[in-house]
Amino acid sequence: MSTQLLQTTILNEQFLKIDYSQYNSSVATIHRHLEESKDELTGWINAPLEDNQELIHSIQTIAEEIKANADLLVVIGIGGSYLGAKAIQDSLTPYFGQQTDGIEVIYAGQNMSGAYINQLLNSLAEKEVYINVISKSGSTMEPALAFRVLRQYMEKRYGEEASERIVVTTDPEIGLLREIAAFHHYRQFVIPPNIGGRYSVLTPVGLLPIAVAGVDIKELLEGAKEAAMLLKEGNLEHNEAYRYAVIRHALYTLGYKVELLASFEPALANFHDWWKQLFGESEGKDQKGLFPATVNYSTDLHAIGQFIQDGSPILFETLLHFHEIKDDYQVPYDARDEDRLNYLANRSFNKINTTSKQGTAIAHAEGGVPVIQLELAKLDAFHFGYLIYFFMKACAMSAYLIDVNPFDQPGVEAYKTKMLQLLTAEDIKK
Ligand code: PA5
Repeated sequence: MSTQLLQTTILNEQFLKIDYSQYNSSVATIHRHLEESKDELTGWINAPLEDNQELIHSIQTIAEEIKANADLLVVIGIGGSYLGAKAIQDSLTPYFGQQTDGIEVIYAGQNMSGAYINQLLNSLAEKEVYINVISKSGSTMEPALAFRVLRQYMEKRYGEEASERIVVTTDPEIGLLREIAAFHHYRQFVIPPNIGGRYSVLTPVGLLPIAVAGVDIKELLEGAKEAAMLLKEGNLEHNEAYRYAVIRHALYTLGYKVELLASFEPALANFHDWWKQLFGESEGKDQKGLFPATVNYSTDLHAIGQFIQDGSPILFETLLHFHEIKDDYQVPYDARDEDRLNYLANRSFNKINTTSKQGTAIAHAEGGVPVIQLELAKLDAFHFGYLIYFFMKACAMSAYLIDVNPFDQPGVEAYKTKMLQLLTAEDIKK
C-alpha cells in the first residue's frame, strides 16, 4: 500500500504494457537536476519545506484588514498570476453565496474586453473595494491596462486612502509595477525571483486572494509540504508524480497527443484551467508536447462524450477523483414515482456521481481510450495543496522527459510582438 496521499492507476495497463524500468535512469537524472539546480526557476520545489510562519502571518494580517474594510477584493493578473488563486477559490468555497469567513473576490486584467472592464467598474459603486495587483514582470499589458483603469477609479473614489487599499504582488527587484508601488507607497508582497508564474500559486500570488476568499492557507501549505516531502523520492517506484509523468510520456510516444483531464465536480472547472496552463506552457515547445484539454462530467458527457468514446483515437483521459466531497444531498422518495426514479430514492447524489465516474471510466477504457485515475481522499485545503504540488512536480518531470525547458514560455512572446507592432502602427495613423 502506497504511503502517498494520491494514488495513480492506469485502467488499461494490461494492453498498454508500459515498461517502467526503461525510465529508471532518465527519471533519476532529471530528479537530481531538479533537486540540485540552483540557477533555474526551481524555488517552488523546496519552498513548502521552509519556515513560512512569518509569510503566513503577514498574509493573514492583510487579509483580515481587507475583510474588515471591504466587501470586495479585485485581483488583477493574468496567466500564472491569477489562474491558481481562481482555481483554489472556486474549488474550496461554496457554489452559492460566500464562505462565512471570506469576502467576494473577483478578477480583472485576465482579458482585454472593454465590456468586461466597463461592467466591472459599474458593479463597484455599492461596495467597499480593495485591489491586489499581481504581475511578476510588472509590465504585462492586460493587467497593466486594468490596473491603470482601477487605480484611477480608486484615487477618484478614495483620494489619499486609495494607496492603503491597493496591495501589489511583484518581483522584489525589477519591473514597472515595483516602481509604481514604491512611488505610491503601496504595500507589497514579493514573488521570489526563482519561482516562475505558473509555479507561483503557493506564494503570495495565490495565497493573499484565497485567504481573503476564506480558504485556510495554513492547511493548503501543510498539504503542499506533505507532498514536497513524499515526492522528494527519486525512485520512480515510490514517487507517484513521476509515475504519472512516465505514464503520460509512454502514452505520448504511443501516439496519443491529447491529454484530457476530467473531473466530476463542477467546482474544479477553474482548477482545470490552472492545470491546462501549467502543462501547456511548460511542455508545448519545439513542436513537442501533449495538448492539455479538460472536461467536466457529467455535463460534458452530454457534449463531447460521444467523441471521447468513439471519435479519432488521439486522446487519453486523466480522471481526477476526490472520494469525499463536503456537502451532499439524498434523492427524495416520491409516492407517485411519476418520473420512475424511486430506484434511486434515499441514495446520495455524490454516490450516484461516483458510480457515473466508474461507469464512464470502464466504458472509455473498454472503448480503447487509455484512462489514468488520480484519486485523493477528500476535497479540502490540505489535499488540494498536495494535489497542486503533485502536478507541478509531475509537470517539471514530464517536460524534461521530452527534453524541453519546463520554466520558459518563448512562444508567448510571438503574439505580444505582433500585437505591439499593430498597436504602434495604429497609433502612427491616428
Ligand atoms: O507562467 C508564466 O510565467 C506566465 O503565464 C505568466 O504568469 C503570465 O504571462 C503573467 O506574467 P506576469 O506575472 O509577469 O504579469
